[in-house]
Amino acid sequence: MAGLLPSLWYRRAVQTTSPRARVRLPLVTSESRRAVHELVPADVVQRSSEPLADAEGRVVRYLRLSVTDRCDMACTYCMPAGGEDEHGLREELLTFEEITRLVRVLAAHGLRRVRLTGGEPLVRRDVVALVQKIRDAGIEDVWMTTNASRLAALASPLREAGLVGVNVSIDSLDPDRFAKITRGGRLASVLAGIEAAREASLALRTNTVVMRSENLGELAALARWAWSIDATPRFIELMPIGEGARLPSSERVGAGEMREALGSLELETSDAAADTDRGPARYLRSKRDPQRRVGFITAVSDEFCASCNRVRLTSQGEVRPCLASRRAVSLRELLRDGAGDDAIVGALRWALAGKGAGHDFAITPRDASSDVDHERVGMSLIGG
Ligand code: GTP
Ligand code: 5AD
Ligand code: SF4
Repeated sequence: MAGLLPSLWYRRAVQTTSPRARVRLPLVTSESRRAVHELVPADVVQRSSEPLADAEGRVVRYLRLSVTDRCDMACTYCMPAGGEDEHGLREELLTFEEITRLVRVLAAHGLRRVRLTGGEPLVRRDVVALVQKIRDAGIEDVWMTTNASRLAALASPLREAGLVGVNVSIDSLDPDRFAKITRGGRLASVLAGIEAAREASLALRTNTVVMRSENLGELAALARWAWSIDATPRFIELMPIGEGARLPSSERVGAGEMREALGSLELETSDAAADTDRGPARYLRSKRDPQRRVGFITAVSDEFCASCNRVRLTSQGEVRPCLASRRAVSLRELLRDGAGDDAIVGALRWALAGKGAGHDFAITPRDASSDVDHERVGMSLIGG
């Protein structure tokens, strides 16, 4: 088997989920197990001390680690009303020990940052202890993306466990609009969480998904407010993922229009950072105060895939090299079968070998001459 052409062994063993399987996270237990034991070419496993890179040569420095598929809100662009239908059972979730093992292996191969995501990571019990374990596994740069509804009580313990900072989702400063977008979220709890994060000296970024009919008129106010609490505001273009794929395309606001809406902030026009290993956000400085920045994550209108530095691990142990693709490889059984580190590294390399160059978000499913296979599973099931 080791002699098979990469494209062939990859196609035989990598998961491509059914377009209709929206709510059921696909786990390819037998296939991925076979793949790792039988199909990964020997030379891939032997090169195990090199950093992990994909077929385009992009090195993986960053892990998005989803610790739960549950969330205590249900944002309109993310989840259906009432939440996703199906969640992983307890025994289906990776344990903290399994997660830590993977992080340790990745850390030995170039990983520098771990970001805990969900669902909402703070609904997973004992997540504070996990932060400590990830630090102990050799990663100093540990962050979390959270809706902050439970952050008020947890900010200080998280900081003590070694968390560096939080990215907090906040789509409006108007309590009614906030409740509408999040389907019941309480702005007051989020603001209390943010305040606790400040007091605990956690670095703070805010994430606002921009929707034309909801919050386009609020962007400048959100940015000024974020600056006033020493947070970096970031504005995110709606992506055709999860419920975002069902919203009318007229809701999507591109990079140019976002900058126009922020005109009164007088931002520089070009991104000063020359870092090639930097992920999706592009930052523009204020002309008046270069310490102040605004971030833009505009995947559709301004694709950033060429500098992608990341891989995702779902709460059930699937590696997803790209947010926008259904391709996934399950590591859970491998871990539970007592596989050695080389087999795990081999599986990771093998998953990365099939990562596409970009996301094709701009091609709609109606351009059906293409075989574009957009991810429709919501971000809460993948980790965003
Ligand atoms: P840092 O780079 O550590 O600041 O994190 P981040 O901005 O990537 O993380 P965060 O969880 O705050 O995500 C903000 C938005 O970026 C969310 O909408 C994510 O879904 C989106 N995002 C994160 N990574 C990717 C990616 O690789 N591709 C795309 N298309 N979107 C991404
Ligand atoms: N488009 C863009 N961002 C999304 N998120 C969830 N769904 C979408 C979507 N369809 C993001 C939100 C939140 C993060 C966890 O995921 O920004 O901050
Ligand atoms: Fe990378 Fe895929 Fe994200 Fe593009 S969409 S930046 S290829 S993960």
